[in-house]
Amino acid sequence: MNIATKISALLCVFLRFWSLPSLRAEKHSLYFIYTGISKPVNLTGIYQFNAMGLLDDIQIDYYNSEEKRAIPKQQWMKEKMQDDYWERGTQSRKLKEQWFYLSLKTLMGRMGHNESDLHVLQWRYGCEVEQEGGEIKFSKGINEYGYDGEDILSFNIKESQWVASVKAALPTKKKWDNIPTLHQYTKDYLEKECVDWLNEFREYADKDLRNCE
Ligand SMILES: *[C@@H]1O[C@H](CO)[C@@H](O)[C@H](O)[C@H]1NC(C)=O
Ligand SMILES: *[C@@H]1O[C@H](CO)[C@@H](O)[C@H](O)[C@H]1NC(C)=O
Repeated sequence: MNIATKISALLCVFLRFWSLPSLRAEKHSLYFIYTGISKPVNLTGIYQFNAMGLLDDIQIDYYNSEEKRAIPKQQWMKEKMQDDYWERGTQSRKLKEQWFYLSLKTLMGRMGHNESDLHVLQWRYGCEVEQEGGEIKFSKGINEYGYDGEDILSFNIKESQWVASVKAALPTKKKWDNIPTLHQYTKDYLEKECVDWLNEFREYADKDLRNCE
């Protein structure tokens, strides 16, 4: 056994020790963050629109207004998720990009803001789970919009309604509260579908980390 093999074997024992189920609850999260800016900025890495997925705060994919494609950011995402996943991701983000530009314009109008300054619209949605032993429980779901860094509209799962924190978001709250199927869809997405994705991604990500066996 050469020294490198010895070290890597030791490392595996060490990793196995750390991955034993602990008594305290483990927390995991899956979030998607979309950001739109009111006009193009000529700065590297800053796009008029971008979207990203975060698994336990680690970026797993991205989309931006320049490349216009949903692209894996982790090797396991690239290997495990099939072409149709990226195709659907690309289509839905393209639609969302158009929706962002329109919504941002509407919102700026309602805020009394014009095109002279930069304004930013952000959407964050996702879920958190707690894992105790083998049991995984939904603990938190978020679907919220921010404008220039402040919360303006969010979905309250318990009350099953949208909450506007600024006047400019009231018309949207009223419109969305009048679509009961949207409430059910949002609730189901956050509590079930999002948790399923989170579990699936974690399984792939864990396998990627666990290359000792
Ligand atoms: C963007 O900035 C670069 C360097 O700062 C410059 O060379 C280029 O002409 C700019 N492009 C536009 C469209 O303004
Ligand atoms: C745009 O808004 C800024 C800041 O509120 C204001 O100073 C400016 O006069 C406005 N421009 C137009 C064209 O309305």
